[in-house]
Order: sequence, then C-alpha cells, then structure tokens
Amino acid sequence: MKAVLFDLDGVITDTAVYHYHAWKALGEKIGIEIDEEFNEELKGVSRTDSLNRILAKGNKEEAYSQTEKETMAAEKNELYKTMIEEMSPKDILPGIKALLDGLKERNILIGLASASQNGPTILEKLQLTDYFDEIVDPAKLKAGKPDPEIFLTGAKDLGVKPQDCVGVEDAAAGVEAIAAADMVSVGVGDADTLGKATKVVPETGALTVELLEEVWSEAVG
Ligand code: BG6
Ligand code: MG
Repeated sequence: MKAVLFDLDGVITDTAVYHYHAWKALGEKIGIEIDEEFNEELKGVSRTDSLNRILAKGNKEEAYSQTEKETMAAEKNELYKTMIEEMSPKDILPGIKALLDGLKERNILIGLASASQNGPTILEKLQLTDYFDEIVDPAKLKAGKPDPEIFLTGAKDLGVKPQDCVGVEDAAAGVEAIAAADMVSVGVGDADTLGKATKVVPETGALTVELLEEVWSEAVG
C-alpha cells in the first residue's frame, strides 16, 4: 500500500449531516421531501447532480430554468457554508488524526478525493491541510462519483498505481468509484449500503494503518 485516498464528508468529519440538512431545507421550499433514506443517494454526489436527483424525485426536472437551478444550488451552498463556519479540529472524526499520523510515519502518501468544492476550506478549518500530498480539484473533473475519475486522478497526481492505493468512503457512489478505479476500498458505515466495499467498518474509530495494510495485502498482495 503506497497511498490512501480519502473521501472527506462523512469520513474525515461529519459534514455529511450538514449537506443533508441544507438539501432538506431547500427541498421544503420547493415541495420535495428529502428523508434519510433518499439522502443516501445524494452522498458523494456533486452539488449539481444532487440537485438534479432531488428534482427528479419530485418530478420537477423540467420545472426550472438553468438559471433557477444555479440559484437553488448556490442557495443550498450558502446555507451549508453557514453550517460549517464554526468548524475546528474538534470536529475531526474519531481515529482520523491518529490514522493520518500513522500514514505519515510510514511514508504512505495521502490524497483527498472529495466531490466537495468546499473541501480545501474544511481541511483548513480542521487544520489538516498539511497532511495531504494531493487534493483533487473536483471542478476539473468530467464525471462525478460513481465514475472512477476522481480516484484515478488522485492516484496519478500522487504518482502511484491504482492497485497500490486504498480508498476510504462513506457513500455507495464512492465505493463504486473506488472499485471502478481498480482500487481496494474501505467503507465506513452500514454494511448493507456499502456492501460492494472490500471491507466495511462501522465507524472511523476502527480505521487504523494496520487495518488498511491488512485489507490491501489480503486483496492485492
Ligand atoms: C460530497 C458530499 O463530498 O460533496 C455530497 O458527500 C456533496 O453530499 C458533494 O453534494 C459536493 O459538495 P459541495 O460542497 O461542493 O457542494
Ligand atoms: Mg462522503
């Protein structure tokens, strides 16, 4: 294992819940209900694709102009930004700091493969930016998760082969993207939702360098 590519929202910090609340608020305004079950389909999915999925759920794909959709996405993002305003290192999920330290000690490269355009700001607030050897810019990608492009770009930027990487994800779309990139995946969360992952752990506290090395060795080595 030469590199680990991390998703951000729901893996490094619990911002997945803020995305959910911000979309839910927008949904209420336009009469589309977003519950936790539907929200699973939004996890890992870009802002624009999320809005399109929400509109499709309410059969309202054709109800708004492109400009109106851009305004709605911007409005959701403004609300989301107020929610992340006060974030600090106390918001790093359990086990993540120790994992990043362990990876650094072993000279294993660290990359960020998050669909979020707020990713770099959040890493700054968590004071984790310096751990990351590469941060993929999702604005430069042609396709979002479940397409493998974000993980393949991360591996390329780090100068490693996909087969030498482990990807860590909390979303079904993300696990699919890692698998399509021909990488070993570790899912964090519900085994039913993340069943396609090489290994699923219930929470971030279970993520250790030893575990990632073991999962990678068993799958590839
Ligand atoms: C992903 C989240 O990490 O980023 C999604 O799981 C979110 O819920 C996506 O829609 C895009 O985030 P942002 O911050 O660019 O709107
Ligand atoms: Mg996520």
